[in-house]
Amino acid sequence: MRMYDLIMKKKHGETLTDEEIRFLVNGYTKGGIPDYQMSAFLMAVCFQGMNEAETLALTMAMAESGEILDLSAIHGMKADKHSTGGVGDKTSLILGPMVAALGVPVAKMSGRGLGHTGGTIDKLESFPGFSVSISNERFFENVNRMKLAIIGQTADLAPADKMLYALRDVTATVDQLSLIASSIMSKKLAAGSDVIVLDVKAGSGAFMKTYEDARKLAETMVKIGNGAGRKTYAVISDMNQPLGYAVGNILEVKEAIEALNGRAPEDLSDACMTLASYMLLGAGRVTDITEAKELLAETIRSGAALTKLAEFVEAQGGDKRYVYEPDRFPRANRTYEVKAQADGYISAMNTEEIGLTSLLLGGGRETKESEIDLTVGIVFEKKIGAKVSSGDTIAVLHANDETKLSAAVTKLQNAVTIGQTPLSPVPHILGVVEQS
Ligand code: URA
Repeated sequence: MRMYDLIMKKKHGETLTDEEIRFLVNGYTKGGIPDYQMSAFLMAVCFQGMNEAETLALTMAMAESGEILDLSAIHGMKADKHSTGGVGDKTSLILGPMVAALGVPVAKMSGRGLGHTGGTIDKLESFPGFSVSISNERFFENVNRMKLAIIGQTADLAPADKMLYALRDVTATVDQLSLIASSIMSKKLAAGSDVIVLDVKAGSGAFMKTYEDARKLAETMVKIGNGAGRKTYAVISDMNQPLGYAVGNILEVKEAIEALNGRAPEDLSDACMTLASYMLLGAGRVTDITEAKELLAETIRSGAALTKLAEFVEAQGGDKRYVYEPDRFPRANRTYEVKAQADGYISAMNTEEIGLTSLLLGGGRETKESEIDLTVGIVFEKKIGAKVSSGDTIAVLHANDETKLSAAVTKLQNAVTIGQTPLSPVPHILGVVEQS
């Protein structure tokens, strides 16, 4: 088999066999296929696409390029949730404890933030002492004992995807549906859970800017997950504005703690209730979504989910007093109120730019190695649809550096549009894909 022939085949829109896909993934991972040939192949995929069978074969070959986590030491059906990347997305911190409080094991492998999107691990590290670097044995033991543990992605998880993603990033081949779907699903399959709930974001802060594209991606990933024997659901959610009001690590953790105390903004509550409901349904803990939502609401009312968060933070070395006394978290040196420049209604938010504003303040990484400032970020007072008068505060920036702050103010002002027409509210949950 020659890589040249496979590039030619895809260039002409022909279908590759499983064996051919495995050959190119293994060859590239082991160094036998150079970057230039793989780049040509990826570009051919961008123009010709891949069918379902090819996408599944690519996913499996990438998943099997490294360690497939064996979670069989954990009792019961394990549920995982994965977001395609958003701004202000703190759902894992809320739904993990809720689902675990209902006895469903959540053995989660999470990532750090990159680019304009945040990551669960950075948020969790806001708790002094918290660590995701725990041994597999402790990970399994914690999940068996209290149903929730989160570790970082190991270097050996789908290494083929890691290499291919880096290549796609520099060859303008990221935004192809089969390539995105296989990249995400290879990591989820390798991470070992029985139930996978995907949060596919659509909008200005998401990878998929339109609902139609998000739905296609969701359907493809659900098919791959179910095809690989995992119970898979995808929830399509709106990312035309940040989720909740807080963006930035400690600010988001505090909002998550508020949510676990029963004070979640509506969109954040909808997101957590829906995603968590499908985790419970997939794990067989409930028979329908209505039952799931009732049980989940009770974990908030009774305080069981908040207690679970404290237990989980402590089990991974963190200081659980911060869960009950969030004022202990350090604050940025300075706050600055960004005001409305006109009367009207907030009609649009460029959410990617909002994520980048938080990054500019120091809350995200420019590169994988960057140090982040956990205290900085943005707390919105108004979101889409809100009526504003000139001079009203739209958001409060939390900053530690004057130069970064002044750049962030301009960026945020440009990211928010004030129009003259009132808008009808858009639901946060746009659709659910169960089987396609
Ligand atoms: N996230 C991933 O992990 N892979 C992609 O290709 C896109 C988003």
